[in-house]
Amino acid sequence: MSLDAATQRRPEPAPSPPTLALDAIQALVAPDMAAVDALIGRRLASDVALVNQIGEHIVAAGGKRLRPMLAVLAARALGYAGTDHHQLAAIIEFIHTATLLHDDVVDESDLRRGRQTANALWGNAPSVLVGDFLYSRSFQLMVELQRPQVMRVLADTTNAIAEGEVLQLLHVRNPDTDEAAYDRVIERKTAVLFAAATRLGALLAGADDATQQALHDYGLQLGFAFQIADDVLDYTASAQALGKNLGDDLAEGKATLPLIHALAHADESAKILIRHAITAGDLSALPAIVHAIHASGGIDYSAARAREHARQAQAALAGLPQSPWLDGLHGLARYAIERDH
Ligand code: IPE
Ligand code: IPE
Ligand code: MG
Ligand code: MG
Repeated sequence: MSLDAATQRRPEPAPSPPTLALDAIQALVAPDMAAVDALIGRRLASDVALVNQIGEHIVAAGGKRLRPMLAVLAARALGYAGTDHHQLAAIIEFIHTATLLHDDVVDESDLRRGRQTANALWGNAPSVLVGDFLYSRSFQLMVELQRPQVMRVLADTTNAIAEGEVLQLLHVRNPDTDEAAYDRVIERKTAVLFAAATRLGALLAGADDATQQALHDYGLQLGFAFQIADDVLDYTASAQALGKNLGDDLAEGKATLPLIHALAHADESAKILIRHAITAGDLSALPAIVHAIHASGGIDYSAARAREHARQAQAALAGLPQSPWLDGLHGLARYAIERDH
């Protein structure tokens, strides 16, 4: 179910800037993404067989490739005509993939991209270590670009992602996690990588500081929208479309926005149920909790916040030159909140 369907509302009116649908964006970036995928395939290689096996398992499963697409679109929207954006996009996807390998260990998840997770198939230790391989491979690729500013932004970004994951860990099974704490976690674990992808696309294109900042702001807001939408989908999607198990966040004792809102607004008996489920990481009451989240407005509220972040992402693009690439950036802001997986 899409976010709009989940809220039982009519879709918001189309945003005023021209936007492209996902398939049109994919067609636009297809030549670039073919080069990115080829580069990822080449640079995934190791002479340690298990690294290849696990790396290929997760990379070949696909994924939406949203972050590398963002890097490509940002570079192109600012007139970049070289090929370093392919390497940048591959770096960003390597970092993302490393975080997924680690995240599935931490979250004890067993389904990712429609496949069994690496930790389910090979165990925790190989997943963590191959995640480290991908992280460090991304740094090898960064060094090759020979751009200190790219190194700086990505060093700060990966550091913030690690902080975000640790911060989140500190809130696990804590039913008193509030919205401000949630925002601090998702900014670091998710939004900063989106911001780096788009800022660095602009940087490669030689854009001035203000334009780089605008692309950073776009990516950051998009990252917020994307993660909030993800947290809604954890309660509303179909597991098959999502390629991940539903209710994972609750099973982990993770208080995400729909639940945080429900805890503040549901009736007393639902609050008790939710607090117990978070504290115990207990999924047995999931249907009742999903009902309480809907009834207390937790889905509507979260969807509205995701839409507002997507709107702010689009607003950050004001002043960029018109182009299909710009329409693509607008389109991805829309896709982030309309997607069903
Ligand atoms: C998953 O990201 C992690 C989150 C930030 C929610 P994606 O949903 O982009 O994962 P893939 O790459 O498409 O599998
Ligand atoms: C994804 O976080 C991992 C990072 C962003 C580092 P989540 O745990 O919320 O995402 P899924 O639901 O497993 O994809
Ligand atoms: Mg997870
Ligand atoms: Mg999630």
